[in-house]
Amino acid sequence: MKIVFTRKIPTELVEPLKEKYDIFMWDRENEPMPYERLLQEMKDADAVFTNVADRIDKQLIEQSPSLKVISTMAVGYDNIDMEAATARGIAVGHTPGVLTEATADLTFTLLVATSRRIVEGMDVIRRNEWQSWGPFLLTGQSLYKATIGIIGMGRIGQGVARRAKGFDMNILYHNRSRKPEAEAELGAVYCSIEELLRQSDYVVLLAPSTPETKNMISHEQFEMMKKTAVFINTSRGTNVDEEALYQALKEEKIFAAGLDVFETEPISNDHPLLTLHNVIALPHIGSANVETRMKMATLAIENIEKGLAGERLTHIVND
Ligand code: DGY
Repeated sequence: MKIVFTRKIPTELVEPLKEKYDIFMWDRENEPMPYERLLQEMKDADAVFTNVADRIDKQLIEQSPSLKVISTMAVGYDNIDMEAATARGIAVGHTPGVLTEATADLTFTLLVATSRRIVEGMDVIRRNEWQSWGPFLLTGQSLYKATIGIIGMGRIGQGVARRAKGFDMNILYHNRSRKPEAEAELGAVYCSIEELLRQSDYVVLLAPSTPETKNMISHEQFEMMKKTAVFINTSRGTNVDEEALYQALKEEKIFAAGLDVFETEPISNDHPLLTLHNVIALPHIGSANVETRMKMATLAIENIEKGLAGERLTHIVND
């Protein structure tokens, strides 16, 4: 049986598989496998080890006659045509759980860095513009006892709330369903999105990407936020209307934004958002610590091996 790896991953993870399977591995770590090449390799593949940057669409699924398992090294699977995969009886696996803490860490890092203008501070020094201590030089927003509003209170949202508790923050949340455990453990208060947007000093978006969440934060939502609000998105870029975000930041309707995800990735370096002083942008590195990425890759391989052995995947999306 053949497994296609769309990225180069550490040899120690792949080597043991070679005894049992025929392995094709794209030889670049940080460059995607071209779609046409992927189509070609998938013609006789039984499983594919993929990631958020690959387009696993209907055409690719239809042209992979022996495909049994699609395993993504991610919790999100919006790059995979689930309908086409499920119709063909292909099991789709993902890697929830192991990336919760790393992604919550990065989300909170962005929140602190954006509110206290950390990157702007470094830029001032780099440009040799630091003349003296200034009473209001690079003043940001307070974190201690501020109100954080978390949209999407899944595992990662609750991880962020736990970190916010350490800063004595008031925690509001909105989610498809109430989370009694977060309310009891963290004192998180459930409210409507509108109420959350109006009351929060920090709005953190952690909703999955679905047709319902597309552009869920747009002009109307930015209008509701405080002028001092900091907006953080570590979920998916498609959840936010980037043009509306640009306007809100440019016209100082909100204070700043910290973004790890974009509508189109990689974001082009001439994107208007990147011209603004009050934006911190990162290249989708929410779960990027070595330990977590090794766990994600290991779990994605486990999903493939289970699927090829005819067993239930450890984490299956289309049960
Ligand atoms: C995910 O897991 O969905 C992230 O966006 C990639 O780490």
